[in-house]
Amino acid sequence: MFLGGGSNVLFCKDYDGLIIRNNIKGIHIEREDEQYVYLKAYSGEVWHELVMHCVERNWGGIENLSLIPGTVGAAPMQNIGAYGVELEKCFVELEALNLETLELQTFNKEQCQFGYRESVFKRHLKGHYFIYSITLKLDKHPHSNIEYGDIRQILSEKGTAPESASIREVSDAIIAIRSSKLPDPKVLGNSGSFFKNPVIPVDQFEKLKTDFPDIKHFPQENGVKVPAAWLIEQCGWKGKRVGETGSHAKQALVLVNYGAAKGEEIYQLALDIIQSVKDKFGILLEPEVNLIN
Ligand code: EPU
Repeated sequence: MFLGGGSNVLFCKDYDGLIIRNNIKGIHIEREDEQYVYLKAYSGEVWHELVMHCVERNWGGIENLSLIPGTVGAAPMQNIGAYGVELEKCFVELEALNLETLELQTFNKEQCQFGYRESVFKRHLKGHYFIYSITLKLDKHPHSNIEYGDIRQILSEKGTAPESASIREVSDAIIAIRSSKLPDPKVLGNSGSFFKNPVIPVDQFEKLKTDFPDIKHFPQENGVKVPAAWLIEQCGWKGKRVGETGSHAKQALVLVNYGAAKGEEIYQLALDIIQSVKDKFGILLEPEVNLIN
């Protein structure tokens, strides 16, 4: 098993096998023109350090993905996303080692088959490739993406006119929002969002809305996205502690380990949450973390 930062993995029991920690480092410019920098980063780099590398040079594209834990290699695996931006937006290509032939192969954006927290490497190529490097296209004359949630408000509170916010100011705002809601995994064990936000058919949503008029929702091309955090909160889990585990008090979607919980206890909490959301709303939550069981 290849492990990056381990920040999106839950070991439900001890792993009987070899685990290789990726520490392949390096960031360099592949090519550039007046508008764009094509930046190559190796998969063992820490994601947030790559973001800071770009922010310091005022290269736009990934600043909304500030402070996401984990490594560069894990980023395309699940098309990391936050605050209105997904990796695929500035992704060009990646190199991956074919674990059967030991050849390095290049995958362009289309071949990666990105979706919401999805890629081909989580689906039918799972376990067959080791991601070695990624190349991103970053804008030297960037336009900030500030439409999600509280970004505008945070910028205004800091005295920055949202429309003219720099890449650094947007990154700082994202870091402030994340730090206020999401627990630091170094302090309180967690894997970020434990479940994906479910997308349900429009007719199922309409029926639910009659029973739960204040249900939060975001229309999508293929249905209606309902925040898993809202569903979990409605079931009474938010801030609830069960032994050494619990749902975080400031973000119900984040399951935390208060220190001594075993993987199987976190997994049991996840199963109990899935069951109660299914009983109350008829929606099946799908884990977003990589479960090793
Ligand atoms: N909400 C609740 N209760 C809560 C928290 C949120 O009802 O305890 C509601 C809020 O009112 C809001 C909605 O849920 O309307 C969405 O909340 P938020 O903006 O916090 O985002 P999220 O959908 O819960 C997703 C990602 C996060 C990412 C944030 C910000 C997924 C599974 N999670 O969370 O990603 O940081 O948006 O973009 O898509 C991660 O993947 O590990 C992760 C942290």
